[in-house]
Amino acid sequence: MNTVPVPTAAAAKAPGRRLSVAPMMDWTDRHCRVFHRQITKHTWLYTEMVTTGALVYGDVERHLRFSEEEHPVALQLGGSDPHDLAIAAKLGEQWGYDEINLNCGCPSERVQKGAFGACLMAEPELVRDCVKAMRDAVSIDVTVKHRIGINDSESYDFVRDFVGTVADAGCTTFIVHARNAILKGLSPKENREIPPLKYDYAYRLKRDFPQFEILINGGIKTEAEIDLHLQHVDGVMLGREAYHNPYLMATFDSKYYGDPAPVKNREEVLRAMMPYIAAQLAKEGGRGLKLNTITRHMLGLMQGVPGARQFRQTLSDSKRLAAGNPDLLLEALQGR
Ligand SMILES: Cc1cc2nc3c(=O)[nH]c(=O)nc-3n(C[C@H](O)[C@H](O)[C@H](O)COP(=O)(O)O)c2cc1C
Repeated sequence: MNTVPVPTAAAAKAPGRRLSVAPMMDWTDRHCRVFHRQITKHTWLYTEMVTTGALVYGDVERHLRFSEEEHPVALQLGGSDPHDLAIAAKLGEQWGYDEINLNCGCPSERVQKGAFGACLMAEPELVRDCVKAMRDAVSIDVTVKHRIGINDSESYDFVRDFVGTVADAGCTTFIVHARNAILKGLSPKENREIPPLKYDYAYRLKRDFPQFEILINGGIKTEAEIDLHLQHVDGVMLGREAYHNPYLMATFDSKYYGDPAPVKNREEVLRAMMPYIAAQLAKEGGRGLKLNTITRHMLGLMQGVPGARQFRQTLSDSKRLAAGNPDLLLEALQGR
């Protein structure tokens, strides 16, 4: 007789999301994600936030198209209307995304006017209803990215109750940016720096909800830090460090996913981008796609190795970029 495995805390650990690159507006666009894929095949990638309005009333293709090689890739949505979120999630699934993530962490005033992002943490029942509507509409995972509190709340119970309520809709993956969001008086940038990080709140969530997948985010920069966090939670999401120092991710496939496949060195990563860039320029150059639209994400590739500054300077030279020739990448490489 076959025995049915009993779900355990370990079973909640979906290895796919052990490492991920955070959703970052203007940064983690489809070109950036293709670039990151040259460095790591398995790290889970997130889109920039796309609002439901942009999908329900806007140019769906412009917001949702991506390259096959980006998988696994999650679509992050911003919105607070269950009906619109269901439509947007369905579109995401149809376009082939692997996960739909709801943004409950963005503190920007513009987002608050739309009544979504971090201010949604004050309305856990609404988030629950949003997640339910999305889960009813799609069969891929629906996850939530949130903060640990809003404004000056110090209480762990706030985030515990938020997670508990949202989980009633069947959400089992929570991405915890481990600091409060201050809804008035701080810019989004300050909101990523000033409120103190409280990693222990994320650890407590994992202890209180061992059956859920809890990912931690905020201020994480090194492999040593990642290893420490992975002793307490299921996954680590990197934002700014992954963007500014992307080659940090070169060890991720072997170390965290057990994939022994050889990893490209920095030069190979750069060369691997060249056919992609040429193809994109050929296809969309006439519609305004510029070389810099893609190469701007690659400035940090040489971070930490000799010549990094010169590499960055060559790739930031507006005159040479304007010529639109992908060979500029080779010049940047050789000029180091
Ligand atoms: C330029 C930029 C844009 C961001 N845009 C988003 C976004 O669209 N959605 C979101 O949930 N978080 C956004 N964030 C926050 C990040 O996802 C992440 O939570 C935050 O940067 C903390 O992680 P880090 O310290 O590893 O960067 C953004 C961060 C940056 C730096």
